[in-house]
Amino acid sequence: MTIQIAIDGPAGSGKSTISKIIAKKLDIIYLDTGAMYRGITYKALAQHIEPDDTLSLKTMLDDTDITFKGELLILDHVDRSEEIRTPKIAENVSSYAANKLVREELVKRQQHISQNNSIIMDGRDIGTVVLPNATHKIFLTASVDERAERRYKELIAKGHAVEMDSIREDIKKRDYDDMNRQTSPLKKAEDAHEVDTTGLTIEEVVSEIIKIVQEGE
Ligand code: DC
Repeated sequence: MTIQIAIDGPAGSGKSTISKIIAKKLDIIYLDTGAMYRGITYKALAQHIEPDDTLSLKTMLDDTDITFKGELLILDHVDRSEEIRTPKIAENVSSYAANKLVREELVKRQQHISQNNSIIMDGRDIGTVVLPNATHKIFLTASVDERAERRYKELIAKGHAVEMDSIREDIKKRDYDDMNRQTSPLKKAEDAHEVDTTGLTIEEVVSEIIKIVQEGE
């Protein structure tokens, strides 16, 4: 039997960290859908294509290869894992992710990857749009302050010169944009389990989700 675990939630709620660990523990595929939106954003910015220029985006997408090698994002056969994590991409990704055509195209690719595979997929619309029949759905949350602090530490550790206030503002703006866009806004699926990770360790969150999965909920 294949299992499909949908993990949704706002920026910095710990989705990717938690999903990677669970994928290893359960020996299933992990798909970071945010990395796909980031990859498209990286390429569109490099080609000076605006987020509302759907025609150019379509031409670009038809000619774009996105795959993963382990945790690395391979865009048109080049590893862009580092480039897609910069503040510039974070600032712009919501606008490209709001484009209906971009979403339709990436959702199609995500659904294709999940076919006949046990998978854990994280994003904003996994339980609602990409895998509406997922065997398990989790909605991860955490306070804005805690999420900002996690992102801050992550970026500082990677050597980026960033300020806490601007990270907090970026997170708030992305929450607003992701929750208020027209096409598949970020929202909890009705049948998802909400897990508030504020004050919890990574291990605590992982065991809570594994418990939900094992109890077959
Ligand atoms: O999870 P992340 O921060 O890497 O996601 C980057 C952006 O991509 C985020 O601002 C919203 C968007 N996104 C989305 O709209 N749908 C998804 N399934 C995943 C990400």
